Amino acid sequence: MAKIKTIGILTSGGDAPGMNAAIRAVTRAGIYNGFSIKAVYRGYDGLISGDIKPFTTENVSGIIGQGGTILKTARSTAFATEEGRQKAYDNLIKEGIDALVVIGGNGSLTGAMTFAQEYDFCCIGLPGTIDNDLYGTDNTIGYDTTMNTIMESVDRIRDTAQSHERIFFIEVMGRDAGFLAQNSAIASGAEAAIIPEDSTDVDQLARFMERGVRKSKKSCIVIVSESPKCGAIYYADRVRKEFPDFDVRVSILGHLQRGGRPSARDRILASRTGVGAIEAILQGQRNIMIGVRNNEVVYVPLSEAIRSDKPFDKKLIKVLDELSI
Ligand code: F6P
Repeated sequence: MAKIKTIGILTSGGDAPGMNAAIRAVTRAGIYNGFSIKAVYRGYDGLISGDIKPFTTENVSGIIGQGGTILKTARSTAFATEEGRQKAYDNLIKEGIDALVVIGGNGSLTGAMTFAQEYDFCCIGLPGTIDNDLYGTDNTIGYDTTMNTIMESVDRIRDTAQSHERIFFIEVMGRDAGFLAQNSAIASGAEAAIIPEDSTDVDQLARFMERGVRKSKKSCIVIVSESPKCGAIYYADRVRKEFPDFDVRVSILGHLQRGGRPSARDRILASRTGVGAIEAILQGQRNIMIGVRNNEVVYVPLSEAIRSDKPFDKKLIKVLDELSI
């Protein structure tokens, strides 16, 4: 294996608060350890078009507290094609890049794994997604900030929900995972969460309505995990039809959940995993994601990180149920 001298870095997929802290960590730790760093703009699309420039420590000054990503990001369709990946490889060779650090979620790390296998190229992933759905790491970069953003939004909605004695269905992001919904429901004292990891949709609403009515609270907050068919609007419509006495409203939090200054936890996670990425490259590791499990930095093979069955602690459902009486 040739010695790695230059490391490329890119952000891909949905932006997440803390991505900038990760870019900073990889850049600074890389330079500290004698590597050259090259920044790739606009994710894999920038790799294909050659949107690449050298980075110094100054390029990452003052970004640790900024949301979004200074490198821009994209959901690349071109990288899903063999032709796109060939162009990406040609540009890496042209730029003298020997290893690539990819900060992103499931789709981005799947792309990195395919590319690494096809071209025998050193790819290191950092878990950058608000969804927390990457296997092998307790938390992903951006998850904590987003949970706090949801919690603050729900605190505000509760003021009006209580004033009008209404049921609010609040839809949050998470793609196919309910981590954001369940934990933000606990943090904001919501009455219920409807999540993909729990029982069927019908059961979840029925269970909540039965309990909610019995405890005769006048206003309720139900956090609903986004879903193309059964989101907050679907449940609100059902309650309007099945329980016409209730005054129901919907709030879809949308992309405000992705923005904002990263929390201390996300900055620290990004910094630790960024330094971990450089350490892994120095050790000759490749095609792994750097995660943190039980407060230890861990190496997770990319093929495992993208597994779709990250364990969901069902006890969290009991916690919410017992505390929302
Ligand atoms: O993966 C992050 C995420 O914010 C998901 O929670 C959400 O489903 C999706 O991205 C939205 O993507 P976009 O910004 O492309 O609409």
